[in-house]
Amino acid sequence: MKFIIEHLDKRLYKWCFLEYKHISTVVGRDKVMFTNVSGKTSKEKLAGFGTVFSDSIANSKNIVNSKNVLSKRICVLDPFTEKTLSKDDKTKFDYFVFGGILGDYPPQKRTAGFCDKLRAKGIKFETRNLGKEQMSTDTAVYVAKKILEGKKLSDLKFKDTIIIKINESEEVELPFRYVVEIDKQGKENLILPDGFVEFLKKRKSF
Ligand SMILES: C[S@@+](CC[C@H](N)C(=O)[O-])C[C@H]1O[C@@H](n2cnc3c(N)ncnc32)[C@H](O)[C@@H]1O
Repeated sequence: MKFIIEHLDKRLYKWCFLEYKHISTVVGRDKVMFTNVSGKTSKEKLAGFGTVFSDSIANSKNIVNSKNVLSKRICVLDPFTEKTLSKDDKTKFDYFVFGGILGDYPPQKRTAGFCDKLRAKGIKFETRNLGKEQMSTDTAVYVAKKILEGKKLSDLKFKDTIIIKINESEEVELPFRYVVEIDKQGKENLILPDGFVEFLKKRKSF
């Protein structure tokens, strides 16, 4: 089982890079593939966190072998599709594909656009949602992994829209769904990439 992150932005923004590093920590470097990555620097930066491909998964004959492509073992995670991911999908698919896109509000449905590109290339795949709320890419991978390991979406605790305090007078609101884990002391912890809050605090504009 591999987690493919199809990078859909032109640049590799720091925000995105922190999410990708988090994904690698969550599922393990050997299970992550970053596709559609252009530029030597971006490729070098990501190489420590997964296998990096310049090609899009839409040209997947260069990435996954054609047998898998033909036998429909690719699942694209898309918030706007009908079927929800279930633990049984673990045996049905080999590749779980996520859009490497920073969240936008309202959502631009870029994942659906990417699915159109796959269809146009004759790639066979199915789609699954993780509920209707838009998650960050790393949150979506975290949730998918939990579901494939046997949890139900309803077993997980979420916070929709988080507010991060930047300093005494400023805060930033992120209108996306994040996972909350409760530790042994009963404290609620938001699951965020390492260094993410510090990154937001250093960022000059939003
Ligand atoms: C920040 S989301 C981007 C959503 C984007 N605004 C769009 O319109 O498609 C990044 C990726 O995380 C995954 N994702 C996020 N929320 C999801 C959900 N509720 N269900 C399934 N996949 C989700 C998808 O693979 C998506 O491409």
